[in-house]
Amino acid sequence: HTDLAALFIIFGGSGDLAQRKLYPALFNLYRKGYLKEHFAVIGTARRPWTDDHYHEIVMTALDNFDEDQATKEAFVGHFYYQSHDVTDAKHYETLKALASQLDEQYELHQNRIYYMAMSPRFFGTIASHLGSEALLTADGFNRLIIEKPFGRDYESAKALNQELTQTFDEDQIYRIDHYLGKEMIQNIVALRFGNGLLSGVWNNQFIDNVQITLAESVGVEERAGYYETSGALRDMFQNHIMQVIGMLAMEVPVNFTAEDVQREKTRLFRSIQPYSPAEIKQNFVRAQYAETSVDGENKPGYQQETNVAPDSQTETFVAGKVMIDNERWCGVPFYVRTGKRLARKETQINIVFKKTGVNIFADDKSDRSAMAPDVLTIYVEPEQGFSLTINGKEVGQGFALKPDQLAYQYDEQMLADSPEAYERLILEALNGDGTNFTHWHELAASWQFVDAIREVWDADQTPLPGYSIGSMGPKEATDLLATTGAEWIFDP
Ligand code: BG6
Repeated sequence: HTDLAALFIIFGGSGDLAQRKLYPALFNLYRKGYLKEHFAVIGTARRPWTDDHYHEIVMTALDNFDEDQATKEAFVGHFYYQSHDVTDAKHYETLKALASQLDEQYELHQNRIYYMAMSPRFFGTIASHLGSEALLTADGFNRLIIEKPFGRDYESAKALNQELTQTFDEDQIYRIDHYLGKEMIQNIVALRFGNGLLSGVWNNQFIDNVQITLAESVGVEERAGYYETSGALRDMFQNHIMQVIGMLAMEVPVNFTAEDVQREKTRLFRSIQPYSPAEIKQNFVRAQYAETSVDGENKPGYQQETNVAPDSQTETFVAGKVMIDNERWCGVPFYVRTGKRLARKETQINIVFKKTGVNIFADDKSDRSAMAPDVLTIYVEPEQGFSLTINGKEVGQGFALKPDQLAYQYDEQMLADSPEAYERLILEALNGDGTNFTHWHELAASWQFVDAIREVWDADQTPLPGYSIGSMGPKEATDLLATTGAEWIFDP
């Protein structure tokens, strides 16, 4: 590998994201040789930590690695800590001095990655100080990686974007959506655009409906404070589910580059059929997990969780039917759902093909349409791979059809070799490749769609339906499909 040179300045260096995701991701890049000698990390946060204490924190984040201690120590030696008040201009001067010193010491060619991994209310402040205190270098690259939530509606996202773009150009801003860093999400475009067999049928002539499930078995855990202000629609639909729809449904980009891919996704999001308030009520379902007895043990519902209002109306589940008004997709529902405390942790996509017109094998000549549809399934996580369910003949005498599965699952070794989402995306940002990041125009379109739903929901005082812990959501989510005669393929 080429030895990439850069200084990482991580805002939120003491935080949960940095410890759980960023430090392990950077270490993976290090042990695989993408980062060698020419990198340094400044972690900033409010607390007054010493470099030594920071090193211990980073070291703890590497607990799950088998690498020898010497390698870990060499890596951790590249980390520096700066106690930092993000609103205090003086602190940026100190930061700037340290950055220049490290730039020389490690020969970083003035390349800088600013990583916002802290409370979103400071994103704008930090960006404008980086500009006004002249942290950005003249010769190297300056890139901003920014975590969600990017605003909480279109207006706040736009205001934040305006703040950021006073210092950074659009092509310097890497809005991260970690779903775009997942192996199987990246594989969608390979499947679609690498196979004539599939690209020929990837349209409303052959596809009946598309189903996307992002199911989680955990509850809100320690994040109730954030989740109460978010809910499943903002937490999972606005970003991850929209991006998955983008990869599945965008038109063929001219080239697989950031510019072309982001343009196609933007065009797609702008083609999503806007709903009237009545249509929103019909096509979007929200619900909340309710106290449930599991094996004789009472599991708390969302409203009983710590730091959740006892009368909270925050949704922990959302299902919806998204329609795309363009030539390729007109008439094909995209059914999506996500929720906490569901039957299992699994992300799965099902492409359901249209049934053939006539079942000539039917015994009952009055019902000749009863054949199961062909389904292409993309297993995103935890299993990774795909399968194609097609009809074959029952072995033996007579002539009955039965579904058979052509399946391909990645084995343990492939899974172990596959980089984790953050590792992949950080490397892409280092390489200046924004293909798997979100353009402002995509975000704007997706917020506008989400805002309309939120508005209807916020005005509706009817208490949310509950669903049992360990189920796949409320009955309403099943009914959503029944209106078109479809059913959820993924039914654990
Ligand atoms: C995050 C959400 O963006 O994605 C979390 O904020 C959620 O609520 C998580 O748990 C799910 O990500 P993954 O990679 O575990 O599917």
